[in-house]
Amino acid sequence: MAEEQRVTVGLPDRGYEVRIGEDILREVGPEAAARRLGPHCAILTDENVETLHLDVVVESLQSAGIVTHVVVLPPGEGTKSFAHLEGALRTLVRSGLDRHGFVVALGGGVIGDLGGLVAALFYRGIPCVQVPTTVVAQVDSSVGGKTAIDIPEGKNLVGAFLQPAFVLADTRTLQTLPPRAWAEGFAEIIKHAAIRDPEMLDTVDALEDRNDLVALIARNVAIKARVVEEDELETSGVRAYLNFGHTIGHAIETAAGEGTLLHGEAVSLGMRAELFLSERKCGLPAASTTRVLSSLRRFDLPVVLEAGLDDEAILATMARDKKFEGGQMRFVLLSALGAPQIHREVSLADVRDALAVLREPCGV
Ligand SMILES: NC(=O)c1ccc[n+]([C@@H]2O[C@H](COP(=O)([O-])OP(=O)(O)OC[C@H]3O[C@@H](n4cnc5c(N)ncnc54)[C@H](O)[C@@H]3O)[C@@H](O)[C@H]2O)c1
Ligand SMILES: [Zn+2]
Repeated sequence: MAEEQRVTVGLPDRGYEVRIGEDILREVGPEAAARRLGPHCAILTDENVETLHLDVVVESLQSAGIVTHVVVLPPGEGTKSFAHLEGALRTLVRSGLDRHGFVVALGGGVIGDLGGLVAALFYRGIPCVQVPTTVVAQVDSSVGGKTAIDIPEGKNLVGAFLQPAFVLADTRTLQTLPPRAWAEGFAEIIKHAAIRDPEMLDTVDALEDRNDLVALIARNVAIKARVVEEDELETSGVRAYLNFGHTIGHAIETAAGEGTLLHGEAVSLGMRAELFLSERKCGLPAASTTRVLSSLRRFDLPVVLEAGLDDEAILATMARDKKFEGGQMRFVLLSALGAPQIHREVSLADVRDALAVLREPCGV
């Protein structure tokens, strides 16, 4: 019997279970049937995941007596668009799915975000099962109920909250991830460690290959679950701690231009900059910065900003970022590893200094 762990997301009336295990894709059918999610479903996936993992999921649902319809979308962030949202919704109607059906989002965060929104909108809302197949999706996007598409004015600006009916994370699916996609997921894991669980950095450093991931993924799901339980709709500020490294990281990602840096790579850079700000503003010991940087380097994540990107482009992007409240910059900074706080007294000069530090060799 392969190892499996379960994490419960305890929300009033909307609580659900996240199953994390090796080789558990075929559990999706029995689990959906046991929960009586409906007699038919639409599996949303992308072309890459279709080739690798779709068959097992279809077979599992059909063996459980559930009729399946499959919608295959192109891979990539471009799929989180109004055009693909409309296309998917109309395909579901034409396939005969109705309000007794449910959605299975099989893929990375792109499919999870779009599939969740399709489920939230179809017949004013049907259940959604998340079957995440990337590190990012397993430790972050599949848990918490945020769904979204992008518009030209910005990413994730149109969406809804829809907590999934259950989440099934099969760590075996991560074996097929390309190296950069694998590594970028660890930027979010290292972020979780920095804000909530510093000892996890040792676990991450000790990882030798892609086996025995169940405990590590479950530990991250639990971190995300606790944050979501405390602040489901991001109103109290606790959920905002997950944005550590993202204020500057997201600006770098956008300023670098579509397809240059992966999200996790930009967050890695953002974390170095925000660790520096944490030292300056909150007294984070320099040794803590070094500790985090060493884990990032272990996954070949970038920690030095390339020469091509100038400060003004990054600052202009930051000024447009939705993380700004009333014109004030809002940062998640650490007074110690595991001790985040929201900080509003970061000046433009501080950010410029952080970017200057980011251009220096890191020496770790
Ligand atoms: N809702 C949230 O709370 C939340 C949190 C974090 C990120 N996100 C969103 O998630 C998206 C990023 O997710 P992502 O990093 O998973 O990217 P992704 O979904 O684009 O997947 C990355 C690439 O890996 C491929 N892939 C997926 N699973 C694979 C597998 N098992 N083997 C081989 N290839 C596979 C995909 O086809 C794609 O090309 C962004 O749109 C981001 O906004 C949402
Ligand atoms: Zn992120």
